[in-house]
Amino acid sequence: MALDRQLLQSLIDEFTVNAEQLREVAANFRQDLKLGLNDPNDSSLRMLKSYVGLPTGKETGEFLALDFGGTNVRVQRIKLEGAGRFEVIKKVGKPLVVPGEYNYIAADSTAEQMFDFLAGLIDEAIDKDHETKFYLGHTFSFPSDQTNLYNAELIIWTKEFKTPGVEGKIVNDLLKEALERVGATNVEPIAVINDTVAVLLSAAYQQPDTYIGSIYATGQNNCYVEASINDPENAGVGGMILNLESGNFMKLTPNRLDLEFDEQSEKPGEQRLEKMVSGRYMGELFGMALSELFDEKGKDYGFTAIDLSSMLMDDTIDGNRIAAIVKDKTGKDIDSEECAKIKQLATAMVIRSARLVTAAYVGIIWHRTGTGKINRQHIAVDGSVYEKMPLVKENIAKALNELLGEEASKVDTILDNGGSGLGAAIAAAMAVNHHA
Ligand code: BGC
Repeated sequence: MALDRQLLQSLIDEFTVNAEQLREVAANFRQDLKLGLNDPNDSSLRMLKSYVGLPTGKETGEFLALDFGGTNVRVQRIKLEGAGRFEVIKKVGKPLVVPGEYNYIAADSTAEQMFDFLAGLIDEAIDKDHETKFYLGHTFSFPSDQTNLYNAELIIWTKEFKTPGVEGKIVNDLLKEALERVGATNVEPIAVINDTVAVLLSAAYQQPDTYIGSIYATGQNNCYVEASINDPENAGVGGMILNLESGNFMKLTPNRLDLEFDEQSEKPGEQRLEKMVSGRYMGELFGMALSELFDEKGKDYGFTAIDLSSMLMDDTIDGNRIAAIVKDKTGKDIDSEECAKIKQLATAMVIRSARLVTAAYVGIIWHRTGTGKINRQHIAVDGSVYEKMPLVKENIAKALNELLGEEASKVDTILDNGGSGLGAAIAAAMAVNHHA
């Protein structure tokens, strides 16, 4: 079939963020941070207090770590050995959705079912030992309001989670009740943190000079250490980590498809940046563009970020793999020239994602630096898009260069694989130390 070249080019253009636009997004992000620090109501960033600062690296002891925030839930027993060292003693994990069997994130599931599932997994991790005392750190990767390290109240589900009865509740209270139901009252949830905070704690535990934590996966979000906030409830050093919920950042210029996509999503108007950049949405957005090219606007082909990644990895001369994926999802046969064009569109979307995410990093760096010189630093990142999506890492580096010039040499992104679990254990240790 012959694709409309003009339409394709205009789609590619719509998904291109030029140097000037990139700088504008970074500047807007910095401004929203400043406004949000003064009053979160004036900003699209939620600026959520985490009640932890940085760890010292000397935290020790054995803790349970619950990592709940994507489609897989993991529970680990982690022994912190200090000096940035740790050992994973046990690890269990299960998906929240098994098609045809159960789905704990659907609108017809209940909070009780969801938390019973979590408690069951925790019980498995402790081998049903209901005697030994365990402190549990909980990485809960959704926007939550806190007044201390324990009492995180879910503001709103993101990532298309729909389970009723959890929004507006203290999630660890729900967890405690479920633990009681399985008889594991010896497990004491003591700290709740966002996954971005967990990644930052985990990276900072192992090496200095890390002040920004980021998740670039199903969802996308960043946190950073705000040196100016001191609070008696705050555990740790260096200030307080703020979970920006930057997936909700809105001072952007969404294109025509972004706007339509948002309209059709579970929560229109929310998580605007996330819908333009994260793994949960990129495949669908690509499918939406393709449906215009195939003159079937509105048809949902079910593309995922994994499909995008596979298409970008196709290095065959005639684009065999791209053709096969497109055929599988849309039923259309395309020739090699069309494969190359479709790859260009996928490339544009992924590069846009990496550039917008980097603009947020730079907005935070500019805010932290003020009028001085940028410090040598790492940005700790975890997540499948960062780790596995072709083009992402190099385009982050390129965008950092564009925005920071020579000073870009002082900043790099580092993969903190598995930080969500380790960070939860560190937060639990910091909570215990804070109360000691
Ligand atoms: C959530 C954040 C989370 C991010 C990455 C977003 O949808 O709102 O709390 O950090 O996903 O998991």
